[in-house]
Amino acid sequence: MIKQHVGLGEKSYDILIGSGILQETGARIAALCGRFKPEDGIAVVTDSLVWGLHGAAFSASMAAAGLGFSPVVLEPGEQNKSLDGLGRLYSDFAAMRLKRGGLVVAFGGGVVGDLGGFAAATWMRGVCYIQVPTTLLAQVDSGVGGKTAIDLKEGKNLAGAFYQPACVLADTNLLATLSGRDFRCGMAEVVKYGAICSKTFFESLRERPGAAELPGIVDMCCGIKSGIVERDELDKGERRLLNFGHTFGHALETLGGFRRFNHGEAVAIGMLLAAETGEKMGLTEPGSAAAIRAVLEIHGFETVCPYPPEEMLPQMEMDKKNEGDQVQLVLIKAPGEAFVHSTDAAELRSLC
Ligand code: GLY
Repeated sequence: MIKQHVGLGEKSYDILIGSGILQETGARIAALCGRFKPEDGIAVVTDSLVWGLHGAAFSASMAAAGLGFSPVVLEPGEQNKSLDGLGRLYSDFAAMRLKRGGLVVAFGGGVVGDLGGFAAATWMRGVCYIQVPTTLLAQVDSGVGGKTAIDLKEGKNLAGAFYQPACVLADTNLLATLSGRDFRCGMAEVVKYGAICSKTFFESLRERPGAAELPGIVDMCCGIKSGIVERDELDKGERRLLNFGHTFGHALETLGGFRRFNHGEAVAIGMLLAAETGEKMGLTEPGSAAAIRAVLEIHGFETVCPYPPEEMLPQMEMDKKNEGDQVQLVLIKAPGEAFVHSTDAAELRSLC
């Protein structure tokens, strides 16, 4: 088992990564007693897919540790990351009498983590929670760093909070049950970490990983992310680098009605577009986009943007990370080194 520490003073926590951690979940949660009181209630937020696959193992480990809990099982899908989904959690927390000293466990992928985390951040003004991420995307990115949110009809992740978990338990065995498409979705974020922070790691992704390599990959990504979060928890500077590919990617997701591309597929094309844009601006080393395309193709990603610039640009101008009329683009100097470039719509239009 690998342990990463996220050093945030009183909000510090460990990320445990390895195969078979699910079987230890109860013992790991019991070890956090003191930060929460089991008698004040434990709510386990999950979805029916995860619960069907892994609920029995989870329940057995909780029973072995002598911990009772109330499962809150949602239907899978982004539609639950909503005001309605949040209301459902609050009702269930009230019905089970979850008190301020209790615990919320977010057991699932990005939707469950974001929603369960936000519910924990706001229930009785904040209860202890832990992340038990079950997808590659959640293990390398969304389950770590304390970003919690729900979507509003006006846009994704518009209501949220920075709220750090007390622990993250990432069992890489669970990744074996992901569909090829869901696994690939997480690989886009993995490629992102290489592209923004480590040329060596980026180059190691020229081969598809086997199961034995997954703990090391999750460890590498969590190590990069925890360093960034320690230096910029509240996303005011360096943490923005984690949005490489996301400004273009968000435009793709929106234009595709959030059905044509999943998040990772959109981010993959977005990273390529960002690298191509940087090359056109003379800010990115020539050949960088080709290197990114090659890695993405190895992992089976589509690399052609199906939308013309005149459809992409208005979406990018609405990105919530923009400041005034400036679009905040994360670009790379070359794979392994990223920076934020502030540009305006006129410059972007002239390049597309
Ligand atoms: N997923 C990007 C971040 O946590 O900042």
